[in-house]
Amino acid sequence: MKKKLLQLILSTGTLLLLLTACEYDFIEPTPPPPVPPAGDTISFSQDIQPIFTAKCVSCHPAVYKPDLTVGKAYSALVSGGYVVDSIPASSSLYTKVNTGGSMATYISTEQVNLIYRWIYAGAKND
Ligand code: HEC
Repeated sequence: MKKKLLQLILSTGTLLLLLTACEYDFIEPTPPPPVPPAGDTISFSQDIQPIFTAKCVSCHPAVYKPDLTVGKAYSALVSGGYVVDSIPASSSLYTKVNTGGSMATYISTEQVNLIYRWIYAGAKND
């Protein structure tokens, strides 16, 4: 009787473990990056910095890299290697905020697209 109870507890426990393990292993597919319109003009100071100021600087002053505060963000991103304008989709600034990235919950899809378009247009400090 005791053995059966132990077996039941063990098998239920294993089943629960398996189920929760599956839940955490789920990986969301990353959508392909949008194709920016021709002649796209995205300004760092007008379009990108405001996103950082609204959504990111509560955690990204100097403690968590990169420093995304006004006046520091551009150089932190470029010198930190977070932006690769030759291959925009591989920029870690983009992959981190895109679906599946650890920063995705802090930002909207439209804002992720703006960041992608800014990198695609050459990641200029304008
Ligand atoms: C609630 C706090 C928090 C917010 C808000 C937040 N981050 Fe982060 N961020 C972190 C932490 C903690 C890490 C380090 C762990 C990780 O990479 O997931 C990190 C890491 C990163 C990295 C990678 C750093 C590295 O050196 O690899 C980037 C890029 C980044 N965040 C960008 C952003 C952007 C852009 C926003 C705003 C849309 C943002 N984060 C909002 C806490 C935050």
